[in-house]
Amino acid sequence: MKAIVRDKYGQPDVLDLQEIEQPELADDGVLVRVRAASLNAVDWYDVTGTPWIARPMTGLRGPKSRLIGVDFAGTVEAVGKDVTDPQPGDDVFGGGSGSLAEYVCARPGVARKPANVTFEEAAAVPVAALTALQGLRDHGQLQPGQKVLVNGASGGVGTFAVQIAKALGAEVTAVCSTRNIEQAGSLGADHVIDYTREDFTRSGGRYDAILDVAGSKSWSQCRRVLSPHSTLVIVGGPKGPLLGPLGHIARVRLAALRGSQKAVFFVAKFNGPDMDLLRELLESGQVKPVVERRYDLGEVADALRYLGEGHARGKLVISV
Ligand SMILES: NC(=O)c1ccc[n+]([C@@H]2O[C@H](COP(=O)([O-])OP(=O)(O)OC[C@H]3O[C@@H](n4cnc5c(N)ncnc54)[C@H](OP(=O)(O)O)[C@@H]3O)[C@@H](O)[C@H]2O)c1
Repeated sequence: MKAIVRDKYGQPDVLDLQEIEQPELADDGVLVRVRAASLNAVDWYDVTGTPWIARPMTGLRGPKSRLIGVDFAGTVEAVGKDVTDPQPGDDVFGGGSGSLAEYVCARPGVARKPANVTFEEAAAVPVAALTALQGLRDHGQLQPGQKVLVNGASGGVGTFAVQIAKALGAEVTAVCSTRNIEQAGSLGADHVIDYTREDFTRSGGRYDAILDVAGSKSWSQCRRVLSPHSTLVIVGGPKGPLLGPLGHIARVRLAALRGSQKAVFFVAKFNGPDMDLLRELLESGQVKPVVERRYDLGEVADALRYLGEGHARGKLVISV
């Protein structure tokens, strides 16, 4: 099969499109013929080998795995002997290691692709939408009628977060740059703050939860606009070679140790029930993936370079 591979860490030029062996099917595995994949920040970190503090897990001198990519949508080719659902021929979306390839072995938690979304739209969903859902519902404990602010509302996670927060019944304030104001409104945000003109931490507002995707503010700034007993949910932070977003996360968590307001960080996890919930949200039209650009498999390096600039509008999708 054709797959994007790399043999060392580096800028996206290290990526190459090569012919390699298809992944082996485990007894509990699902082999999917990939029709589309999408990029996430984790792919950028994986390719560049940053932050260095993560290298004990990803490979100290070079990457442990040649393959990259997580998100995919495609058609089930074969299932292991322990799998009863899905079945060969089903169209599905989910996550798997090495999705930037013609075939991928899916992780647990693959869901049926709704008929009303394309493979490209479905491939945009898994990591970003699971992150938004789990951040808002589980870690922010967002309830209907509550006020939530999404800082970084225009990228992969943020565009899902605005829509999912609305689906959860919240009043949503989206923070983005000038060119994305209209997009945030069309996704359903009740209020939009342009961060190039206004500092949301000086807005005088009060929120029951903040989903901080951009990681652009300190704890002392964020707590000014958090209601008592409310939560700052940290999703990401600035890139950096040594610690990456972990420096920002550690600083905020330490500063927030005392007081009635909380700061939490989490890593999104794949699971069947949440993928099924996302399928329902797509089917009902409450969530519509925002795909800014489409690339071919041979153009992954270009796509990753653009993602690395940090100003994608929604998701970048790769047609396989
Ligand atoms: N914890 C987890 O499980 C998890 C999962 C997925 C992603 N993440 C993290 O979440 C972060 C974002 O991921 P993503 O996929 O959404 O990235 P993305 O698609 O690259 O989007 C980044 C967005 O941030 C906005 N932005 C940049 N500077 C900003 C600022 N100062 N204030 C507000 N918005 C700003 C950009 O919009 P403008 O162009 O308008 O500036 C852009 O739309 C990354 O750090 C990633 O590592 C964490």
